[in-house]
This record gives sequence, C-alpha cells and structure tokens, in this order.
Amino acid sequence: MQTLTSFESMQAWANATHREGLRIGFVPTMGFLHAGHVSLMERLRPEVDRLVVSIYVNPLQFGPDEDLERYPRDPEGDAAKCDGAGVDVLFMPPDLYPDGFVTSVAVDRLTDGMCGATRPGHFDGVTTVVARLFNLVRADVACFGEKDFQQLAVIRRMVRDLAMPVEIVGGPLVRDPDGLAMSSRNKYLTETDRERGLSLHRALFAMRDAATAGEKRAEALLAIGRDTLTVDKLHYLELVDAESLQRIERVERPARALVAAFLGKTRLIDNVGIV
Ligand code: PAJ
Repeated sequence: MQTLTSFESMQAWANATHREGLRIGFVPTMGFLHAGHVSLMERLRPEVDRLVVSIYVNPLQFGPDEDLERYPRDPEGDAAKCDGAGVDVLFMPPDLYPDGFVTSVAVDRLTDGMCGATRPGHFDGVTTVVARLFNLVRADVACFGEKDFQQLAVIRRMVRDLAMPVEIVGGPLVRDPDGLAMSSRNKYLTETDRERGLSLHRALFAMRDAATAGEKRAEALLAIGRDTLTVDKLHYLELVDAESLQRIERVERPARALVAAFLGKTRLIDNVGIV
C-alpha cells in the first residue's frame, strides 16, 4: 500500500493507472476507521484492479458548533486497517482545497429534510468534497454506506444529474453486536449514553416489526418509534419513501425509517428498511 498526501500526486497516480486500462475503486472516509468502513473496502476489492481509500476530515461539511476540532483521529490504526483490507492507495491530504477555492456543488430537494434541515450546509459540504475527490481519484466505482442513507441518495443524484463517470454502490449498515450502528462518533459516548443510544435501533426495529405485522399507517409507526426512544434531544424520526426520501402516510412501497438524536453532546444517526 502506498500513501499519497498531495492532490497533485493523487491525480497523477489516477491518470497513470487509467492509461494502463485499470479499473479504480474508491471509498471516501473521514478516518477513525471501523468495521463499517472496512466492509465498503471489502465490497469493492474483488471487482476492481486498484482500490483507493481517502481520509480527510472535511471542514466544509461541519457546522460552526459541530465537532470538527475534536473529530477522532487514528492515522496509524487507519493505515493498518486499510492495508489489511487490500487497499492499494491511501490518500491522506492535510489540505484538499486549492487557495482561493470558491466553488460548491449543491443538490436540492433531497437535502431539504432530515440531516439537511438539522445541519444547514452539511450536504453542500459533502457533495463539494466528494465531487472534488472523484476528480482527483478518477474512480470508476465508489462505495458509500447505507449508514448515511440520505448522503448515499444525495450522492447518487449528484452523479446522475452531473453525468459524473462513476458508478455508485451502496453498502449495508454494519452494527456492533449490541445493535448500535458503528460510527466514528461512538467513541464520544459515555457508558450510560451508549446504553440509552441503543434505543435508536430498538425504535427503528420496533417500527419495522410493526409494519411487517401489518401496521401500515406512518403516524402509528412513528408513535411506536417515539415511545421507544430514550435520548436527550431528538433531531428527527422520519418515515420516508426509500427512493424519493419524501414523507409517506402509509407504507405501500419500500420505505425507510430514519432517526437522528443527541446523547449528551454526541449526535447519532441510524436507519432501517421498512417493507
Ligand atoms: P465517514 O463518516 O467516515 O463515512 C465514510 C463512509 O463509511 C460513508 O460512506 C459511510 O456511510 C460509511 N459508513 C460509516 N459507518 C458505517 C456503518 N456502520 N456501516 C456501513 N457503512 C458505514 O461519510 C463520510 O465519512 C463523509 O461524509 C464523506 C463521504 C467521506 C465526505 O467527507
């Protein structure tokens, strides 16, 4: 595995790799890697000739009161995990943007609700960095986790709308054995916050089970979810169409239940498919 730290070297490597006719796979991350990230690498490894992982804590996607400054980092552990997953290039730039950077990429509509509403500007930061990374890495295929279900939908739409020459693959959400969705931010949780945080997936699974048992009314399902949650501040609990991310009144087509909430100072998200 080689580590590249400048965007010039990343793009030069990508151009040379394409000249050889090799297929490049890409997993963008913000580091402090866990088994959820590694699952995306393993998902792409068999179908590409070269696998690139980027680690960059992107300031553009953090709000002024968010955790940019204390976002957890573990460059050595991350490198070992990437190496173990068969990564060819680890791209870890100290900075990613050129001086005087003033461009942004924004996806409308899909970003109106949920994390878009509760984290203003967040998705513009995500689409801008991912667009830039795609142009540096020149990936043929990139993998994003369903952990960030709205992010995955937003990136698919950006790629479609701007005709970006990259295929987007979604990877399933990976959980800890107790059910908590794996997240770099779980490191912040105290033991009691973590215990109460388990109510996120319990609420979503209770909604899913009720829907499977025949309850199709969204309001009734949301009430079941709300009754299960033990959090300090609920950002949102939503039941939406799995494709359009629009709120639904009844479950008739594949739907998704999504939640975001604070445990202490830590904001956690989770989601589950509802059929
Ligand atoms: P980060 O939170 O580091 O996540 C990187 C990728 O790993 C994303 O595609 C995310 O959905 C996926 N992921 C995280 N936890 C997961 C889990 N438990 N199961 C499955 N996949 C999981 O998402 C970002 O970084 C950034 O927004 C980024 C796309 C890198 C742009 O800065």
